[in-house]
Amino acid sequence: MNNKEIALYSVDEFDGMRKAGRLAAETLDYITPFVVPGVTTGRLDELLEEFMRDHGAVPATLGYRGYPKASCISANHIICHGIPGDKKLYDGDIINIDITPILDGWFGDSSRMYYVGAPSVKAKRLVQNAYDSMMAGINAAKIGNTMGDVGYAIQHCAEKERFSVVEDFCGHGVGRAFHLLPNVLNYGRKGEGMEIVEGMIFTVEPMVNIGKPDALVLSDGWTAITKDRTLSAQFEHTIGITKNGPEIFTLSPKGLDFPPYQIK
Ligand code: MF3
Ligand code: CO
Ligand code: CO
Repeated sequence: MNNKEIALYSVDEFDGMRKAGRLAAETLDYITPFVVPGVTTGRLDELLEEFMRDHGAVPATLGYRGYPKASCISANHIICHGIPGDKKLYDGDIINIDITPILDGWFGDSSRMYYVGAPSVKAKRLVQNAYDSMMAGINAAKIGNTMGDVGYAIQHCAEKERFSVVEDFCGHGVGRAFHLLPNVLNYGRKGEGMEIVEGMIFTVEPMVNIGKPDALVLSDGWTAITKDRTLSAQFEHTIGITKNGPEIFTLSPKGLDFPPYQIK
């Protein structure tokens, strides 16, 4: 892969992504007070779909390669792509909610972790580290650096706390389609890989495990879990590369970027 295969976006196109990204963030803000013990992931999915549609968007995951729901909701040892359904949330769970509204043709992809009641100290440390690892990757995403610098920053942040990063999934280019080049690996070496240039748009979405990095996909064809059943956490932002550094399109307008969320 070289830079010629990567779409670069104009100022106007950045504006389209800003709007889609903001709606993704507002959707994740909206769901916050509903994440409580006893609620089913299926109910949360209904609320998320309704919010996205009420704001003029269509959920990108619905029907994507046969995926059946408007969101992915991944609890505890589920790494990603958990399918919402009858599963109830319990006090102490940590869950990831990942949504991608399509607004005016632009895809805004973001996910956050949520605490259900009061998780363990260890679970909260993992969640904090997944957030820090994502932000380390985002901060490395600047002109003159390479994608290897992004991966290195993520991996270094996770491994310095003795967590591991999942290697089977990665971030991706995003824009007028869901998954584009480049692949944004969550590990790497400084200075390796594609050069980062102005106008690129991609996600940063590391998955961090307490135990080993190995993943297993269940027979539903989607749900990815940790092979050793240890907890996994993930955050995801969509960013654009500007002269002034990375612009995060999916920042929470309410400051609810990582838990615990203080809802007023
Ligand atoms: N939103 C996920 C991502 O961050 C992709 C979900 S695809 C689905 O790339 F089909 F599982 F919904
Ligand atoms: Co993504
Ligand atoms: Co996503």
